[in-house]
Amino acid sequence: MTETVAFPQSRTCPYHPPAAYDPLRDERPLSRVTLWDGRQVWFVSGHQAARALLADQRLSTDSTHPSFPIPTERVAAVRTRRRAALLGWDDPEHNVQRRMLIPSFTVKRIEGLRPRIQATVDRLVDAMEASGPPAELVSAFALPVPSIVICDLLGVPYEDHEFFEEQSRRLLRGPTSEDTEDALARLEGYLGDLIDGKHAERGEGVLDDLVARQQRDGTPGRDELVQLASILLIAGHETTANMISLGTYTLLRHPERLAELRADPGLLPGAVEELLRFLSIADGMLRVAREDVEVGGVVIRAGEGVVFSTSLINRDSAAYADPDSLDWKRSARHHLAFGYGIHQCLGQNLARAEMEIALGTLLRRLPGLRLAAPAEEIPFKPGDTIQGMLELPVAW
Ligand code: HEM
Repeated sequence: MTETVAFPQSRTCPYHPPAAYDPLRDERPLSRVTLWDGRQVWFVSGHQAARALLADQRLSTDSTHPSFPIPTERVAAVRTRRRAALLGWDDPEHNVQRRMLIPSFTVKRIEGLRPRIQATVDRLVDAMEASGPPAELVSAFALPVPSIVICDLLGVPYEDHEFFEEQSRRLLRGPTSEDTEDALARLEGYLGDLIDGKHAERGEGVLDDLVARQQRDGTPGRDELVQLASILLIAGHETTANMISLGTYTLLRHPERLAELRADPGLLPGAVEELLRFLSIADGMLRVAREDVEVGGVVIRAGEGVVFSTSLINRDSAAYADPDSLDWKRSARHHLAFGYGIHQCLGQNLARAEMEIALGTLLRRLPGLRLAAPAEEIPFKPGDTIQGMLELPVAW
């Protein structure tokens, strides 16, 4: 056997899978990789095998399991000590939490938010036009759009955005495990105070609804509610912000595809789906096997760790013709960018609406949009976190 590749790897181009995984593309659907602590785990890169495994409840998301594949030393302390709400629980506990939230994220509820999302996006483009060009698109647009929208939906005051965006950044990309723990403690302290305040004075957000439910039925308990609020707030702004920044960069690097979208905005929903597939920003879902599971002629033994390479899975040539090219008309909808199975992204309808409105409005209102620095010099995020641009200087 050849020497195993280390996981996770950083991308060399922000919109392509890490080049260091190239040898593993030929070993589909499963191969072995080595984690920072020297442990070897399974690496899933085949589309069909990934769907089968993500739908298989013999694989667990319990990060406190001793064999759970912790991707970096930095998150080890937080993850091994406790499980995140929703994402860290298997059914039946997971299902109880998820059912509390489903009504707030249905297609219908999210469709109703579109006018407010559009108004937010327009206001931010107005501000960019008033003070530029140029502009730094991450701070001026890509981050505030989902941040304002999730605050509105949850009932979190947007005035506090600098605080929670900073804790979220430290949690996802902080330098040390102490820093990560401190960021989580601060964020949960903040959300705990916010939730306690809602007992006295209730607004109309999802967190207010959960407080009402707690007063009525006794569940969720305070700690559980704080942990739910924390995952919703973090997942609700960081991910979509990265899709908007990296999506814009990718469009500006593919002028022919960009011209097609400008000529026919009806292509936009398909383009959002294709960008989700192509960019696969949540590149590395994590599981541990609770029992032996056979897939693609391989047996994953009970107690073995499994990592899913979303970027390679979404570029499997058995699932997509010419997978490394962008094609707005292909049917990309069965991509795994939002995961699959019981943990499939709760916020996917919201993320789709935000991306369509944000990207569509940028293209319509700023027809001369272009990069304001050499493309190769614009910094992007390292491989051990959600993928996206660190900065995006633009002009128009
Ligand atoms: C384009 C943006 C987004 C992407 C690419 C994305 C990606 C994902 C992925 C891959 C998972 C599954 C992880 C796994 O199975 O290990 C997930 C779960 C989740 N996402 Fe998203 N997400 C996005 C936006 C959002 C938004 C806007 C929210 C807002 C509430 C959200 C909330 C969640 C939650 C709560 C879970 C856990 C669900 C569960 O365990 O039942 N996400 N997301």
